[in-house]
Amino acid sequence: MLAGKKILLAVTGSIAAYKAALIVRLFVKEKAEVRVIMTENSKEFVTPTTLSTLSKHSVYSSFYKNNSEEWHNHIALSTWADVLIIAPASAQTLAKMAHGICDNFLLSVFLSIKCPVYFAPAMDLDMLAHPATQKNIGILISLGNHLIASEVGELASGLNGKGRMAAPETIVGIILEAFNTGVFSNKKVLITSGPTYETLDSVRFIGNHSSGKMGYALASLFARKGAEVVFISGPVKNYPIHPNIKVIKVTSADEMMEVCKNQYVDIDFAVFAAAVADYKPSKTFDKKHKKDGTPLNIILIENPDIAREIGKLKTEKQFHIGFALETNDGEVSAKLKIKRKNLDLIVLNSLEDPGVNFGRDTNKITIFDQFDKKISFELKHKKEVAQDIVKIIESYA
Ligand code: C5P
Repeated sequence: MLAGKKILLAVTGSIAAYKAALIVRLFVKEKAEVRVIMTENSKEFVTPTTLSTLSKHSVYSSFYKNNSEEWHNHIALSTWADVLIIAPASAQTLAKMAHGICDNFLLSVFLSIKCPVYFAPAMDLDMLAHPATQKNIGILISLGNHLIASEVGELASGLNGKGRMAAPETIVGIILEAFNTGVFSNKKVLITSGPTYETLDSVRFIGNHSSGKMGYALASLFARKGAEVVFISGPVKNYPIHPNIKVIKVTSADEMMEVCKNQYVDIDFAVFAAAVADYKPSKTFDKKHKKDGTPLNIILIENPDIAREIGKLKTEKQFHIGFALETNDGEVSAKLKIKRKNLDLIVLNSLEDPGVNFGRDTNKITIFDQFDKKISFELKHKKEVAQDIVKIIESYA
């Protein structure tokens, strides 16, 4: 049920606009309050009367009410909504959204929106597959908007392929799920991610190949579920962008430790996904160290174990999740680490499994709890792995 939830549905110019009637109907059935924005082009496919009758409220399509001088306040509507769903989202609207173009009422609402935004593309298969459209979708996702993927099937053009808007039931189901995951709403989640670089001299460091993709996927998912995320990351290519994610960039393990200690205030969940370097050089050279024909001995000393140190601060109210990347005896090591680091769950990646490696988009995990309960998963994309991990955390929280 979505009683008390305020749904803002935006309908754009695509043949799938006729399905907007069903989407409104399903949301009303869930007891949500629904308001509809229509672009001028969408009215070629479905009438404002249909959508206003079903939503029990007149639709918004221009800045002015019925061509009078009284205007619709887009900011008021942006603040009113708990979620904005653009379904169907045409190629043109997607392009404008991705580039901040603001030449109609919907786009001005989009640019001022504070709540989560979902968009369900609907277009012919070639238009969807075009690199320009794919790039625009990528930009929108990187800006924290949520894609409701198009489905494969028969298209209005008579062609068969990917481009059909997701079914109204799917769209409503996704929104129901987003609202129902109350466990993380307004909770504070600390995530460590990426590698750490341990300075050797002014131009060299000791590091590892961690891409931070797992931490990225987890941070995005927690944020989407309404959590406030503190994302503490070593040097990586991409950092998540979302209004709920505060990114703190660090370089070394010592820095990561310091930031974690300072940020571990009112934290509900801590996820230690960083590949922290175990060792750092005992001394560093201020300048670039020059070779002099003799061997260079570097003494490495242990870095602080962040998960373990923060684990000492954990109270009954907090929940900690760690990772273990093992090449052999994975299960035994993971079970030892869960105790040593005072974790509630540990996610084991075994490098023995094909498809598991630093930098890959896929991962195969096994999760253990404090009581040695073992939950195994198939090899999956890291985004799906993040979903599995979060689902398990949810079931324990
Ligand atoms: O001991 P090991 O490095 O295998 O443990 C992995 C887990 O501990 C991961 O969750 C990792 O983020 C965390 N860790 C840490 N600080 C370290 C080493 C590992 O937080 N110095």
